[in-house]
Amino acid sequence: MSAVTTDAPTTKTGPVVTARGLTRHYEVGGGLFSKPKTVRALSDLDFELSPGRTLAVVGESGCGKSTLARVVTLIEEPTRGELSISGTDATPDAWKGLRSKVQIVFQDPYGSLNPRQRIGQILMEPLLINRASMPKSEREAKAREMLRLVGLRPEHFDRYPHMFSGGQRQRIAIGRA
Ligand SMILES: Nc1ncnc2c1ncn2[C@@H]1O[C@H](COP(=O)(O)OP(=O)(O)OP(=O)(O)O)[C@@H](O)[C@H]1O
Ligand SMILES: [Mg+2]
Repeated sequence: MSAVTTDAPTTKTGPVVTARGLTRHYEVGGGLFSKPKTVRALSDLDFELSPGRTLAVVGESGCGKSTLARVVTLIEEPTRGELSISGTDATPDAWKGLRSKVQIVFQDPYGSLNPRQRIGQILMEPLLINRASMPKSEREAKAREMLRLVGLRPEHFDRYPHMFSGGQRQRIAIGRA
């Protein structure tokens, strides 16, 4: 597996993500007559991701790309190794607070938006989950602002995902993230 970062302006702030010896293994099988087997999905990965840069992870099928994505987005804990997000170590104590800071933009915008939700609802849902105390009016204002920032129009707030092109849907997914 290899990692490629794009060229971008150098920044003075620290890395957004730092991984040292990041490892995720799975124990599979095992029963009355057999021992569990260890699948070494991700082993001893080191990398840094700086603000404003893109990190592409490339490698053959089964080399651990999706496993890395799940660990870095805090969906799964690493078996060992260190992971730091925006300067905060992803220790079990910091886990919950950090999770709301890492969001995913899925590759397929046709599958990643709930067809039964209007765009406004889609954009407000993360705030409902991660900023539970935020008043409804502020939530709606933020969602409308996000719609504007991703280049969509105010009247799109009440429309459904099927009424948008693939690129527009992906912008909605970016706004949600
Ligand atoms: N929950 C799990 N339990 C056991 N083994 C797993 C689990 N998740 C992934 N694996 C194994 O870990 C290895 C890495 O899988 P992963 O999905 O990260 O690969 P990938 O690089 O994303 O592959 P692809 O390009 O095919 O999507 C594979 O051998 C896979 O079978
Ligand atoms: Mg994969």
